[in-house]
Amino acid sequence: MRPEAISLTSGLQAGKDVVMYFGADYHPEHWVFPYAGTQEQPEARWERDVELMTAAGINAVRIGEFTWGLCEPQEGKYDFEWLRRVMDLMHKAGIKVVLATPTAAPPVWLAQKHPEILPLDERGLPLREGTRHARCLNSDVFWEYSRRIVTAMANALGNHPSLIAWQVDNGIGGHMTESSFNPETKKDWHQWLKQKYETLDNLNAALGLRFWGQIVSDWNQVPMPMAAPTSHNPALVLDWIRFSSDTIAAYIQMQVELLHQLTPGKPVTTNIRVLSRQYDHFDLAEKLDFVSMDSYATVRSRAAENACEIDMIRSLKKHSRRLPGDGRNFWVIEQKAGQVHWQDVNSLLRPGVVRLFTYQSVARGADGIFYFFWRQPRIGTEKFYGGVLTHDGRGDNRVYQEIRQIGQELRRLAPYIKGTTVKAEACILYSHPNEWVLKMPHQPNEYFNLREHVQLFHSALHDRNIAVDFARPEDDLSGYHVVFAPSLCLLSALEAERLREYVENGGTLVATCNTGLLDEHNIVPDTGFPFYLQDVFGLEVLEFDPIPPNEENHLTFKGSTIPTSQLHPAKLWCDIIEPKGCQVLAVFARDFYAGRPALTMNRFGKGTAVYIGTVSNQSFYYDLVTWLRGFSSLHTLLKVPETVEVSLREGDGRKLFFLLNHQGAAIRLNFLKPVQDLLQDKTLVGSYDLPAHGVLVLYEGPTLEGGPAV
Ligand code: GLA
Repeated sequence: MRPEAISLTSGLQAGKDVVMYFGADYHPEHWVFPYAGTQEQPEARWERDVELMTAAGINAVRIGEFTWGLCEPQEGKYDFEWLRRVMDLMHKAGIKVVLATPTAAPPVWLAQKHPEILPLDERGLPLREGTRHARCLNSDVFWEYSRRIVTAMANALGNHPSLIAWQVDNGIGGHMTESSFNPETKKDWHQWLKQKYETLDNLNAALGLRFWGQIVSDWNQVPMPMAAPTSHNPALVLDWIRFSSDTIAAYIQMQVELLHQLTPGKPVTTNIRVLSRQYDHFDLAEKLDFVSMDSYATVRSRAAENACEIDMIRSLKKHSRRLPGDGRNFWVIEQKAGQVHWQDVNSLLRPGVVRLFTYQSVARGADGIFYFFWRQPRIGTEKFYGGVLTHDGRGDNRVYQEIRQIGQELRRLAPYIKGTTVKAEACILYSHPNEWVLKMPHQPNEYFNLREHVQLFHSALHDRNIAVDFARPEDDLSGYHVVFAPSLCLLSALEAERLREYVENGGTLVATCNTGLLDEHNIVPDTGFPFYLQDVFGLEVLEFDPIPPNEENHLTFKGSTIPTSQLHPAKLWCDIIEPKGCQVLAVFARDFYAGRPALTMNRFGKGTAVYIGTVSNQSFYYDLVTWLRGFSSLHTLLKVPETVEVSLREGDGRKLFFLLNHQGAAIRLNFLKPVQDLLQDKTLVGSYDLPAHGVLVLYEGPTLEGGPAV
């Protein structure tokens, strides 16, 4: 099939600025014999790719990640010419390029010449070369070689007219590579501790090293938490994770600063795999011009979980964003184009599901979508990962056709999307150090899972189509009508102060059990629970009772303040609460704390502080949100059946409602007033069946000159 080309000069562009980058992760090195070509014409395939891309409306590619060994096959002998030829070809076709620095995959020669760059694991054994991520981020030698390859790449390709942005490194962290235990790491660790604590007395006290008599009398004595007969001191481990996280952020910052110097004006990002890596994503985001995510939406993903991850990514960097083109939000730089390869069974994405997931990303703010990857590799560990094209590269496959359709639709939408962002009235607080602490051993209840607890709140908002951001507890929360703080067990004085101010100034704060049990050093305060906030909630938690997963207590509601749809269980954790001025909305039904408060509300300053002393089923959180909506102005974006996901992008007097049907059957919608359907370019009124996995984009706003760009 020889597809017909469509013009790229309009559509995804509005005026001079590109509104949406619609692209793919392009790895011609994966198709073997250089670049799938023949001896005579090794690169002939690329032209076909450009044709297929153009036909699909693709206007950007990401290239270069993991190619260090190809770009510098021997030390100091660089070959960037093949990448330049890719860029030339793309440029000719009007396709922009995002260059990824290749540092995530150090070449074999480097590890063999400098084995000290290999990370040592917690047993002191090296993780060997021959794959990606085999590097210690505290190694000066690795930093130096990284600087050299990034500089060489920027000097060779940084002024190419197709270049719009850099991606530094790739998917940092994961596979337990967030920390290494090398001698150089130890030196940096001690330096980091010296800066933080200044004196050994401070260190011994702040980390509680008197426990089991593990005090130190010299900085060099402070251990790294390596494999040991039993657990290390949890305060020391928390600092170790903070240090490792700072190391990751510093390494990324080094590359960002270098590229800012070498190619001023080119924004820099990196791809983040949200909520599964052990570093502070907010800290990392601060180092970048804009955030990009790897979306792992797969056939078994729950819509609300994907939405939660997208909302989290959008929220990582709220200020000073600098994106290519007209982008205001973030990119999905790896949007899965098919099945992944890391589940036990990697089923195909059903027809329409790549499109659905793409719209879910766009609806929640993405200004760039890059499919991972353009074509399935014939070599390496990811050869059965889905791609836009299948191994044969023909372009007559199902997914390619679906992506071509999305490309055409996004061209139509782009002028409407221009300048729009997602605005949220609700916010969920998330702190990485808190998460690290809750994942440590010796928890009151190892079945309590913060991610699942957060998801209960996010799903309640998501399923009621209420827009939500994430924030750190110390951030400015004043713009939000309701702030949810699920289990901030580790709470610093500053964070507690921010929450207090938020409520005092009129906000509604909803906190839960497992809050304020630890200070910022991971040490238990002796001032009662929740630390610093008892007056805000008007209560004190005297004790807490962890519940095994197969047992439960129940909530008995007092009066009719909260409309309850059914009997709600109390699971995993029950706080034994002494009310000190709060209103009691529900009590526990059983056990020796029967009749004690389980759910309370307190007026504090101009605001309200709600406390939930337990964990319940999803339906409880739906009821909670219904109740909160009644008094704290949380708005449902559109009144549609709850199985339809709705998101809103707005700006410049324009509103785009995205309606997504994640179900495998059609859903009937009823429009009482006429609405403008942008994708089909028609007006809908009365009943409309949103097909299985279908998408509707409704527009409210001024008519754009010339109507939709097609
Ligand atoms: C990350 C990487 C990709 C790919 C996927 C596999 O997202 O960036 O190169 O390896 O993981 O899940």
